Amino acid sequence: MKTSAIRIHKYGGPDVMHWEEIDLPGPAAGEARIRHTAIGLNFVDVYHRIGLYPTSLPCGLGSEAAGVVEAVAPGVTEVAVGDRVVYTGRPNDAYAERRNFKAAELVPIPDGVSDAVAAATLLKGLTAWYLLHHSYRVQPGDPILLYAAAGGVGSIASQWARQLGATVIGIVSTAEKSRLAMAQGCHHIVMADDPDIAASVKRLTNGQGVAAVYDSVGRDSFMTSLDCLRPHGTLVSFGNSSGAVEPFAPSLLAARGSLYVTRPTLAHFVDTREKLLGAAKALYDVIESGAVTIRIGQQYALQDVAQAHRDLEARKTTGSTILIP
Ligand SMILES: NC(=O)c1ccc[n+]([C@@H]2O[C@H](COP(=O)([O-])OP(=O)(O)OC[C@H]3O[C@@H](n4cnc5c(N)ncnc54)[C@H](OP(=O)(O)O)[C@@H]3O)[C@@H](O)[C@H]2O)c1
Repeated sequence: MKTSAIRIHKYGGPDVMHWEEIDLPGPAAGEARIRHTAIGLNFVDVYHRIGLYPTSLPCGLGSEAAGVVEAVAPGVTEVAVGDRVVYTGRPNDAYAERRNFKAAELVPIPDGVSDAVAAATLLKGLTAWYLLHHSYRVQPGDPILLYAAAGGVGSIASQWARQLGATVIGIVSTAEKSRLAMAQGCHHIVMADDPDIAASVKRLTNGQGVAAVYDSVGRDSFMTSLDCLRPHGTLVSFGNSSGAVEPFAPSLLAARGSLYVTRPTLAHFVDTREKLLGAAKALYDVIESGAVTIRIGQQYALQDVAQAHRDLEARKTTGSTILIP
């Protein structure tokens, strides 16, 4: 059958994305065909578009979507035609009306969760889950520092960290984002243009520094993040919104108190169906209990995805963003 999808033929700015008609074969062994109803926008889509995370061209884009199973290959048992499902993962072909995807990586959407919320939640929420439970396991009373606290991952992680008993210090760039971040779980805010972020963080922690920094900004924030940690603290460097972190000397960690640095990625924390469904259950549990509220700050038509990318890169978005095919 035919379907329409966003494709790129070269890396570059938002204008390299084109809406094209493509052939979609029937699902191959182990696959299901999904008709998308909502697609999640993620900063990682920008890395794929600009070639920071290269793949072979031409290619699709998009790492997360929700929809309805329309067909399954013979022998597929994980899902059935008509099921509402959501997924995150490669290949990056989520910016499409329809696509085939590995049935073993499809997550059923609970009855109380809309397709829009599911698409706004899975990648960002599973990321918040592993950051707070695995990369550095938050303990009650821990002070932590979270960049982009009003953004997609940040909005979920700040609420979840508060529920786990952390004292959450968020970094944001505007007064409006500060208001949002405080309303959704942050105890304190440090502004992104603060000339001495480390001094402000130390002031908020009685001179000690934080137990962990969750840093999605990368190149521009890495050294500052090290300076915000207490001895034996952990820097979780999980994104590159300002560019990739430069190489650094491990002796910097000794000088600042025998620090830890980790550079995780979601796929390694949900690499079996059991782990994926367990993590998704933990996520849906905090949503259904009301501890974490998912805020869809923006919605665009899929064909307007170039504008969505411009707004995301210009730091104009808050909460999650979805694209509607
Ligand atoms: N490693 C993983 O497994 C994993 C998984 C998912 C996401 N991530 C990372 O998590 C981060 C957040 O992803 P998201 O999709 O939820 O995006 P997002 O947080 O909604 O948007 C990015 C935010 O980063 C902040 N930022 C700081 N410096 C920036 C810069 N130079 N350019 C653009 N934005 C800048 C902005 O917030 P302020 O204006 O408030 O500073 C902006 O709103 C990204 O870095 C992404 O790569 C990593």
